[in-house]
Amino acid sequence: MKLAENKATLSFSNGSPSVDLPVYQGSVGPDVIDIRKLYGQTGMFTYDPGFLSTASCQSAITYIDGDKGELLYRGYPIEQLATQCDYLDTCYLLLKGELPKQEERSEFHKLVLSHTMVNEQMQFFLRGFRRDAHPMAVLTGLIGALSAFYHDSTDINNPEHRHVAAIRLIAKMPTLVAMAYKYGVGQPYMYPRNELSYAGNFLRMMFGTPCEDYKVNPVIERAMDRIFILHADHEQNASTSTVRLCGSSGTNPFAAIAAGVACLWGPAHGGANEACLNMLEDIQRQGGVAKVGQFMEQVKDKNSGVKLMGFGHRVYKNYDPRAKLMQETCNEVLAELGLENDPLFKLAKELEKIALEDDYFVQRKLYPNVDFYSGIVQRAIGIPVSLFTGIFALARTVGWIAQLNEMLADPEYKIGRPRQLFTGYVARDVKPVSER
Ligand code: SDX
Repeated sequence: MKLAENKATLSFSNGSPSVDLPVYQGSVGPDVIDIRKLYGQTGMFTYDPGFLSTASCQSAITYIDGDKGELLYRGYPIEQLATQCDYLDTCYLLLKGELPKQEERSEFHKLVLSHTMVNEQMQFFLRGFRRDAHPMAVLTGLIGALSAFYHDSTDINNPEHRHVAAIRLIAKMPTLVAMAYKYGVGQPYMYPRNELSYAGNFLRMMFGTPCEDYKVNPVIERAMDRIFILHADHEQNASTSTVRLCGSSGTNPFAAIAAGVACLWGPAHGGANEACLNMLEDIQRQGGVAKVGQFMEQVKDKNSGVKLMGFGHRVYKNYDPRAKLMQETCNEVLAELGLENDPLFKLAKELEKIALEDDYFVQRKLYPNVDFYSGIVQRAIGIPVSLFTGIFALARTVGWIAQLNEMLADPEYKIGRPRQLFTGYVARDVKPVSER
């Protein structure tokens, strides 16, 4: 970042001395006012619950233009990556900052695809869960438990340890997600196969059985890989900020990523795809498209507490570019599976059409986000609704790792420790219980 010519001056109406604050600019996007010395100079904090106006760090990984609806990974538009690259290329890009050359690409693919097995003990860890445990509860446990198996890559301040942990996490997440699924349906785990692609391997571990060979459908394989690309990173969202804050204490990479998984689970964040699919199924049960108008009235009624899941975004005040690509992927998958008339897809498109013409949504700049169509395409592939967020976590692991590594490599980073505006009791004395 570089010092801008512009400067901010903070003045106070009570005559306290004004304070000059430096302004920094990045390569694109809003400038920032550096308030690091504010408390020292004024004895006051800033106040920004939800961090609507706060930059927590400087980063060179992902840029979002919310007004234009643009998303860039290391400068490359998501539309180009989703159509011209695969997920492992995208992982390489997010981790190293450049797309791999042919030899680098082959090496990286081979490195990841030959580390997909997990320690045999992991399967016994799963046995502690009920068969109907939510996969996100299982995954939060499994990923945190990885630190117990890989002591040789837990020193977060050792770049080599971080690299090894990154490859292990990217390589093993599909295996763990598939194990969580198989455990839930009571089927045997499928061991990974090194000759398959990253997405093909995941599909086989999910839907293959020891009873017969599993043939990967190339259209579904490509769709799965694209779903991974679209979810790989997204600037300083809630789960990424959680990983950064968790990692800033010096804990091991597996624990920091497990914290990200736990945060992603929430319905306002990564859990929205599951919530969106459940919403669509509810409307379908109540009458489908004919009931959309009534449902939208509920959404617009503040007292109903009903939200149009998969719509709205803290940063995008335009169409989420990932939602457009996800809709295209939906079309491809439904056509391949002969489900063009999927009622939920029709219902989602009707909801979108109505919302985009409705003043409530237009005024609030509410558009479909990545979660609006992702559930429909995953359901068509055969993925259970409860596993949607687990797949989001699988794909986002590389983004969390890249952001964590970027923070740790920043000489200025410190343990994150926000302050507060205290509104509770000031000092008072304990009275004997007889006098309370
Ligand atoms: C993800 O941050 C990221 O980048 C996240 C993510 C990523 O890749 O990491 O993009 C992934 O989490 C996508 C978002 C998934 N969540 C959902 O789809 C859940 C539904 N969406 C909302 O909960 C909401 O839009 C949020 C949480 C996504 C954003 O909330 P904000 O920025 O805090 O906005 P807000 O709640 O203050 O909403 C502004 C207004 C409010 O109305 P008013 O008080 O101004 O009258 O819009 C309304 C909200 O009530 N509103 C909605 C709505 N979203 C916002 N009303 C109905 N349905 C919705 N979905």
